[in-house]
Amino acid sequence: MDFNDIVDSISIKPYYLDREAGQVIYCADCRDILPLIPDKSIDLVLTDPPYGVGIDFGIYQDTPQNWRDLMLWSIPELNRISQCVIMPCSRIVELPFIYANFKAIGYFVGISELRHKGHMWVSMIGSLTWFMAK
Ligand SMILES: C[S@@+](CC[C@H](N)C(=O)[O-])C[C@H]1O[C@@H](n2cnc3c(N)ncnc32)[C@H](O)[C@@H]1O
Repeated sequence: MDFNDIVDSISIKPYYLDREAGQVIYCADCRDILPLIPDKSIDLVLTDPPYGVGIDFGIYQDTPQNWRDLMLWSIPELNRISQCVIMPCSRIVELPFIYANFKAIGYFVGISELRHKGHMWVSMIGSLTWFMAK
């Protein structure tokens, strides 16, 4: 499945699309768009979901329960669409939940290895840097 097949299978209008460059941006709720993306069609998901610690994200209420509901739905969905998922797994208080439920799919930036359900290992050389322009 190539880039154009993936874009054509998603019924939401892109915010930005350059077919020649193979670039597309959707501005959407992930719960609307992830189910439209074909299985294992994405090489890498790099995401920074909410933390469940009450940060003001506008329309999203960042409560622990909302965070858990979002993780329980979105992490399996991210695994379904992608070969590899990289995400900071929230602040340290939620680490036990992530490890108990997802076998260390999520990890903190800088941790050297990521294990997903016993069949995928990714070694990171160096670390990722998150830059918040605020
Ligand atoms: C931790 S912040 C991301 C911060 C960003 N990486 C940065 O450096 O500025 C999580 C973001 O996810 C957004 N969000 C929450 N629920 C969402 C959903 N269902 N679909 C898409 N985005 C969502 C929040 O509004 C918030 O902007």
